[in-house]
Amino acid sequence: MTVVLGIETSCDETGVGVVALDDTGRVALLADEIASSVDEHARFGGVVPEVASRAHLQAMVPAVHRALATAGVRPRDVDAVAVTAGPGLAGALLVGVAAAKAYAAAWDVPLYGVNHLAAHVAVDTLQNGPLPPALALLVSGGHSSLLDVPDLAGPVTPLGATIDDAAGEAFDKVARLLGLPFPGGPHIDRVGRDGDPAAIAFPRGLTGQGHSGGNAHAYDFSFSGLKTAVARHVEALERAGEPVPVADVAASFQEAVVDVLTAKAVRAARERGMETLVLGGGVAANSRLRVLAQERCDAAGIALRVPRPRLCTDNGAMVAALGAHLLAGGAKPSPLDLPADSSMPVTEVLVG
Ligand code: KG4
Ligand code: ZN
Repeated sequence: MTVVLGIETSCDETGVGVVALDDTGRVALLADEIASSVDEHARFGGVVPEVASRAHLQAMVPAVHRALATAGVRPRDVDAVAVTAGPGLAGALLVGVAAAKAYAAAWDVPLYGVNHLAAHVAVDTLQNGPLPPALALLVSGGHSSLLDVPDLAGPVTPLGATIDDAAGEAFDKVARLLGLPFPGGPHIDRVGRDGDPAAIAFPRGLTGQGHSGGNAHAYDFSFSGLKTAVARHVEALERAGEPVPVADVAASFQEAVVDVLTAKAVRAARERGMETLVLGGGVAANSRLRVLAQERCDAAGIALRVPRPRLCTDNGAMVAALGAHLLAGGAKPSPLDLPADSSMPVTEVLVG
């Protein structure tokens, strides 16, 4: 059994995970410790990079100790360290990368600097076992992408991405408009359950005629027009002195987002003859996205894989899982002077 420790600090969660890789290539979750600085950012309505970096510094060593204790693993039992090298906030990434280098050097084990987005896909294996070649719909606070993932170790082919706001960013901005706390995704999800998703016909970005017939944007997303439409709707009601039906607006906005995400993902899978769709990233925790994706995949004969919500949002286990797969595949570890890369491209799974 090979033990991999994973460190994640790309945004506001200090995540430390421990996984075990067996001889058959299966990866099991042993620990998944998270310390979040989200409460410190809430009053600013978004993540403040300096505050996040400082919080990572304070949380890092205790989180590693907790993860090892939970996993029942001694430092000398750790066989490799994996860390998010990018993309993310530069200062926040630096804390995790520096910590990972220190642990790898002290324990004399290989270090894998990995891509945060690829880790969001790899985490699925902790719950659902080895991943066959799949189309990945990756939806988080910073990214919305459709990726062709023949193998977790790469290379990954991007098929489409958002041309403006990320899906999670749209959730957070609309939540703010509706007076809901940051981060807004989980609140829209909760409030929207009591609303009518068909109450307001909000626009579905990049799905017009020109975008469905082999157009260059067929697999791309756009959420900024939707966000503006919600803002106009709310402003018009407020100007007229009418109450804003928060639940209906939340449900209708959410429906517009998940309708486009699932329609494009299923279409891409069908057109490319892919039999498996895997969801990843914080927005994949959305209850309506999970239901609609299942319905549409069932109808199209596509196998859907969705990690449980806790594994969808940022965590260290996903980084450890990707590290374990790279190690199992014989990937060359990253050099000890590996840089943090805030704009690491999605095609780069491992820093070489
Ligand atoms: O993957 P993640 O934890 O961090 C990034 O890599 O960005 O994603 C965070 C994003 C936030 O925008 C948050 O509002 C959104 O995921 N999110 C959700 C839900 N849970 C988290 N969006 C919609 N519904 C949810 N249940
Ligand atoms: Zn993420």
